[in-house]
Amino acid sequence: MEQLKIVASARQIPERQVTNDELSTIMDTNDEWIYSRTGIRQRQVVTTENTSDLATQVAKKLLENADITADSLDFIIVSTMSPDTLSPSTAAIVQGAIGASNAFAFDLSAACSGLVYGLSVASSLLATRYKRGMVIGAEVLSKLVDWQDRTTAVLFGDGAAGVIVDTTSENIGLLSEELRTFGDKGDNLVAGRFANTNPFSGEIEPADQYFHQNGREVYNFATREVPAVLKVALEKAQLSADDVDYYLLHQANARIVSSIAKRFGQPADKFPTNMATNGNTSAASIGILLDELVESGQVHSGQTVAFVGFGGGLTVGAQIWKI
Ligand code: ACO
Repeated sequence: MEQLKIVASARQIPERQVTNDELSTIMDTNDEWIYSRTGIRQRQVVTTENTSDLATQVAKKLLENADITADSLDFIIVSTMSPDTLSPSTAAIVQGAIGASNAFAFDLSAACSGLVYGLSVASSLLATRYKRGMVIGAEVLSKLVDWQDRTTAVLFGDGAAGVIVDTTSENIGLLSEELRTFGDKGDNLVAGRFANTNPFSGEIEPADQYFHQNGREVYNFATREVPAVLKVALEKAQLSADDVDYYLLHQANARIVSSIAKRFGQPADKFPTNMATNGNTSAASIGILLDELVESGQVHSGQTVAFVGFGGGLTVGAQIWKI
């Protein structure tokens, strides 16, 4: 049977760095608090770009890295919780910008699980009638952050990354996955609330664009549900935890990552992290990490790699890949 295969990766990070020390000049926080609780030292934020600009740069790099033309793409999925606009979708803006005239394009909203969910949808599309697609995670979370709120402002960063996927008849690519959503716990991580101001509505809930998170609940959710989905994905692939070369977890918090490594009895160096330099970039984080590791040669073909996303929704998803 034809399987989904990653043929190229790319990333785009804004240039403006904001260190913990710089943040502590605009809010009551400090590097020691942020680093010891999250593993984050700095993040990058946009100055002029929006989400579609970062995603378009990734798309152009992907075409170059894969040495393919835009008209060979059948679809473009952009996973994001911070689109430029609800319509057009960020993916449609990218499609227009790169001239992917044969591709349909749409956004997918699954917060920090966005890349994993996007790859799952891509796998179904490629299993039916399509041959090649692009899946990008792109976020400008700095526009959803209340820069007066130290409990969330220190956590997030902007960035984008993605992959080109096509099909293969070799026994590589996406081996297994387990995705779960806990909508009853969605209130623990909210951002981008609209107000219905139609002239017929009664008392309305006011608009609120900013992040609000119950950090403890999200932390407990991640350390409980990530091992659960990872275990199932490994079982479905008929692999043990030892068989995986690298675990690429969503880069929310270094303590979450090390707790999962311990739970599976795995060495910390099989769980690479980059939140120290990039912060939490939601749907972009796993793709950014993947592209960094591919670029450095640490991740290469022949290896078994797990992708694990978790966050808003609440959502969680694990995939096992043979690269
Ligand atoms: N600097 C200094 N002090 C702070 C800061 C800050 N930036 N933020 C909070 N504090 C204070 C609080 O006010 C509180 O003080 P108090 O005890 O006097 O009230 C104290 O520090 C402890 O605050 P907590 O919120 O209890 O801190 P906690 O140890 O839970 O850490 C954190 C907070 C880092 C957010 C943690 O809960 C966490 O990482 N949760 C997981 C978040 C996550 O993974 N999100 C991923 C999903 S993101 C997505 O989907 C888009």
